[in-house]
Amino acid sequence: MDNDHPPVQLTVQNHIALVVIDNPPVNALGVAVRRGLQQAIEQAQADANVHAVLIVGKGKAFIAGADIREFGLPPQAPALPDVCNAIEACTKPVVAAIHGPALGGGLEVAMSAHYRVATASAKLGLPEVQLGLLPGAGGTQRAPRLVGAQAALDMMLSGRHVGAQEALRMGLIDHVATSDDVQAEGMAYVRHVLSEGGAVRRTRDQTEALADQVKQQVAIDAARADVAKKRGLFSPAKIVDCVQAALDGSFEGGLHTERALFEQCLASPQRAGLIHSFFAEREVLKAPETKVAKPRSIKEVGVIGGGTMGAGIAVAMLDAGLQVTMLERDETALAQGITRVEKVYDGLIAKKRLTAEGKAAIMARLTGATDYSALAQADLVVEAVFEDMAVKHAVFKQLDAVCKPGAVLATNTSYLDINEIANAIFRPQDVIGLHFFSPANIMKLLEIVVPAKVSADVVATGFELARLLKKVPVRAGVCDGFIGNRILATYRTAADHMMEDGASPYEIDQMARAFGYPMGPYEVSDLAGGDIGWATRKRRAATRDPKARYVHIADNLCERGWFGQKTGRGYYLYPNGARNGTPDPEVLAIVAEERAKAGITPRSFTAEELQRRYLAAMINEGAKVVEEGIALRPLDVDVTLVHGYGFPRWLGGPMKYADMVGLPQVLGDIHTFALDDPLFWQPAALLVRLVEEGRDFESLNKA
Ligand code: 3HC
Ligand code: NAI
Repeated sequence: MDNDHPPVQLTVQNHIALVVIDNPPVNALGVAVRRGLQQAIEQAQADANVHAVLIVGKGKAFIAGADIREFGLPPQAPALPDVCNAIEACTKPVVAAIHGPALGGGLEVAMSAHYRVATASAKLGLPEVQLGLLPGAGGTQRAPRLVGAQAALDMMLSGRHVGAQEALRMGLIDHVATSDDVQAEGMAYVRHVLSEGGAVRRTRDQTEALADQVKQQVAIDAARADVAKKRGLFSPAKIVDCVQAALDGSFEGGLHTERALFEQCLASPQRAGLIHSFFAEREVLKAPETKVAKPRSIKEVGVIGGGTMGAGIAVAMLDAGLQVTMLERDETALAQGITRVEKVYDGLIAKKRLTAEGKAAIMARLTGATDYSALAQADLVVEAVFEDMAVKHAVFKQLDAVCKPGAVLATNTSYLDINEIANAIFRPQDVIGLHFFSPANIMKLLEIVVPAKVSADVVATGFELARLLKKVPVRAGVCDGFIGNRILATYRTAADHMMEDGASPYEIDQMARAFGYPMGPYEVSDLAGGDIGWATRKRRAATRDPKARYVHIADNLCERGWFGQKTGRGYYLYPNGARNGTPDPEVLAIVAEERAKAGITPRSFTAEELQRRYLAAMINEGAKVVEEGIALRPLDVDVTLVHGYGFPRWLGGPMKYADMVGLPQVLGDIHTFALDDPLFWQPAALLVRLVEEGRDFESLNKA
């Protein structure tokens, strides 16, 4: 930080010390800010001319929290808890005037002040849980003293942002400003405090919110029970422990507990995984094309096909406020497509999350059509028709004929060659892949698939669309399955091999859930419908390497019409439309039969071996995807698998996970597995090179 631009500036105006935090972009509490804040408080304390202190943030935030980049590095003094304690200990009244985000350590600074004012733009929160942490600068002790155990636990366990009015009702702040001029409003409040006698009101000494001990204990017990039901995350139970300490003991004792548990969270791999995810989710937005080209305008969109994906995409577009035209093959299919869209909104009405008038207003932006001329004015068209190259060609030919110049023409294909689709029309520069995930109005991932001839502004438009739809975009190159489905195909194959070699599909699903997936691969197959994969396998049969191992179990189930939930049975049984399946002895018999046909003597697998094979297959294919430039960096693979395929976000993604396990171990596993099946287990050249050079995947993210 240079001296001309100190990150914390102190001026004294009419006996009020104005402390301005100026550390763009979000005033994170890096070491220079902590130092500056501490010095400012010391100076204000020592200066007899100062009667009160006002802390404000410059730019778009009060303070967004600790500097996340510093976690995992050696700590540098002063520590944030000490800075907060110094603010609170000040013998002159300290006011925090908040606009924009006051999150994590930012809110902890504000809670250490003696009074809090917020403008309408304020977003107050303790989102540490989303980073695998807990509020570590006194937040777990001060928040309950201000708002009670229940509200404090709600904030800390959800990480949600609270607006100014709600914060006022909760008792988190003292006043909502009437204008947006945060500094002027803060000054006015300081003068008000001084006119009222200038009392120093320390949060640590507040007792009212915790006075009803029985009520607090009920809230803590309920939170503990709720946390126990949710698997996976480490820090929530520690947050509850801290609030218990706030209720039971002294403020100092509570701070001590908080520090010890914060250190444990800091040392956990979940903290590393979640912070990796935080930055990776922001890095994926910076695709090269977005730096050189401006997006085209998108207001009116067309969606071709009203099936599973078309209807979901239409809902996603409508939810973003866009004008949508849905085009189907005929009136009957169109009516079915519109009904699928309506069903989504009827579901929201049933849950009281939407009114009938709200639905009518949304549906007024949806038009149905069976004639392509209805798409003449569309800025963007996404096709989601059958996964068949001939059908896709026919659709794009029509679009080429009717769409206005500059319209973006997108395909939602899962596997087909988008270069071939683009090259068959007269405007390949306008053709892009927008690969949504099912259900398209819910799933966060949007793969933006970039064919060879597409122009940069079309790619930038894909990213802009993701922003409008609140999706997480990942740039992908063209290959069979792009990033996600290509990697999925590989680890699913590894799972099928393990099943044929002796593991049951139920053991494999159990392993995936224990790892942190919401569902195992065979449960997912039953949910999505086994027929989808079956069609893909048939399409690929002609080009499959005859030497590659092929497991017939899935085909055998499909031949019986056992497609999963929709047919009442797949790998599991779903009697009477049940949503949770039960294991099926007949499936196990079919598995045994297929093993016998393949001449395999079944062996047992430990859960650890199942996991190591499953993950090694995923990581190895991920490395190949990076090596071929299909994914820009390992972090793009991570974000894809987390947001489209259920990989636990707290492990960062498969490539981050590989770094944490150590690449030599992953490569060693692959070499071992290759002894039985060298064709399947060919190590990625990139993985081999990184191990030789003693590097990790993260080194490629930085490059
Ligand atoms: N530390 C370091 N960098 C941060 C940061 C932080 N706390 N918060 C945001 N940034 C960076 C982002 O990485 C991004 O950098 P880039 O431009 O190089 O990609 C830049 O600031 C802008 O961030 P966004 O793109 O996310 O901007 P938005 O306007 O969309 O969102 C925000 C702003 C709501 C503040 C959002 O960035 C956010 O939620 N930040 C994290 C807040 C948080 O988790 N705070 C708690 C930290 S942990 C803590 O405080 C521990 C304490 O208890 C001891
Ligand atoms: P679907 O079978 O549910 O729907 C396809 C729809 O397209 C049908 O309603 C059909 O009437 C319509 N259609 C077919 N030809 C048409 C034409 N020439 N003009 C207008 N409409 C036509 O299929 P689904 O699952 O929605 O898949 C659509 C596309 O999305 C495929 O390319 C698929 O690979 C892809 N996809 C599917 C995912 C899934 O999970 N189902 C996930 C991601 C992509």
